[in-house]
Amino acid sequence: MLTHVHTHDRPLLTLLPRVASRLPFVALGDFPTPIDDLAPVMRDAGLTTPAFVKRDDRSSPVYGGNKVRTLEVLFAEALEQGATHVVSTGAFGTNHGVATALHAPRVGLDASALLFPQPASPCALENFEVLAAHELHAIPHWSALPPAMLAASVRARLRDERTYVMVPGGATPRGALGYVNGALELAQQVAAGELPEPRTIVLGVGSTCTTAGLLVGVHVASRLGLAFRTPPTLHAVRVTPWPVTSARRIVGLAARAGHLLAELADDPRLAFDARALTRSLRVDGSQLGRGYGYATESGRDAITRFAAIEGLTLDTTYSGKAAAGVLALARSGARGPLLFWSTKSTAPLPSSTTSSVTSASSSPTVASHAPWWTRGWIRRAARP
Ligand SMILES: Cc1ncc(COP(=O)(O)O)c(C=O)c1O
Repeated sequence: MLTHVHTHDRPLLTLLPRVASRLPFVALGDFPTPIDDLAPVMRDAGLTTPAFVKRDDRSSPVYGGNKVRTLEVLFAEALEQGATHVVSTGAFGTNHGVATALHAPRVGLDASALLFPQPASPCALENFEVLAAHELHAIPHWSALPPAMLAASVRARLRDERTYVMVPGGATPRGALGYVNGALELAQQVAAGELPEPRTIVLGVGSTCTTAGLLVGVHVASRLGLAFRTPPTLHAVRVTPWPVTSARRIVGLAARAGHLLAELADDPRLAFDARALTRSLRVDGSQLGRGYGYATESGRDAITRFAAIEGLTLDTTYSGKAAAGVLALARSGARGPLLFWSTKSTAPLPSSTTSSVTSASSSPTVASHAPWWTRGWIRRAARP
């Protein structure tokens, strides 16, 4: 069993001591993340709906955002299995990959990334720069991911390394437990009067891990009597298309996470059937635009409006689209309180890597990490 540090602020472990003794866990983030009032944004948009924001963008000064909670569980599993190296998988601009690259060394793990192309954009390039400063393997299309993941494990075995390969977004039942903890943390903040009970939680859904964890987590919080007499509805704004973000996939992962939790806690009340979970989920495809990674006008408008909140910088791939979903929901007359779950890190990226790729042709180290065929993508993404 790993030693746990600073886990007193992880309600998943403090409220469920059996889980604490059975679930490997490493502390990476600064929790609880704060709650801010979105009233200035809503007022400026001519809306009266009460709305708040859960600042998971500030989950760590190393690199924040939603992936930190997931990695607290997945890195611990990797270490428990004796791994020395973790591989993240995702698109060129993956936040999961950046979070992995920047947090893994803190727990003694090496990291590399297995990446596939996405539409070129400045925010994707910013992340690609960080990843290119570490070890990366690029594949030409996402469909080549399964054999490439297998090859990564074989390569590691040949090097006599033990490697832990994560699926995109870390979307496994265990990964989702990081967000069960997030939901319990919110419930404690509601119980402490930091915000009223949200009727609806709005967030972007990509790999489904975050939404699935929160979905089962609000039900767990309700069953434990912490808060939420009626669990809030999860309003999941698609940033990747169906079928990746089908309600069925989200609920399936949430149900499996609930079963895992019930087993760890020795408490069958914490497993929920798919019908109960489905009732608390809405999947919203109206903000996706042309698809994953393509910016939208409504997303850009939301990014400008939400900048009225101190330090809240959103991105065009994920959190801008989710924020546009908050505004659309309020404009449609939905009743509040709404809670926007802010998932994109607002921590500054390490300056040593900034702009290294854009000048890749003059940097042999970066050039060797980013294959030649990514150059065209880099040039397009760097265009103003
Ligand atoms: C900033 C940001 N927001 C939201 C999401 C969606 O979260 P999930 O993949 O857990 O559905 C991601 C996924 O990569 C992300 O990076």
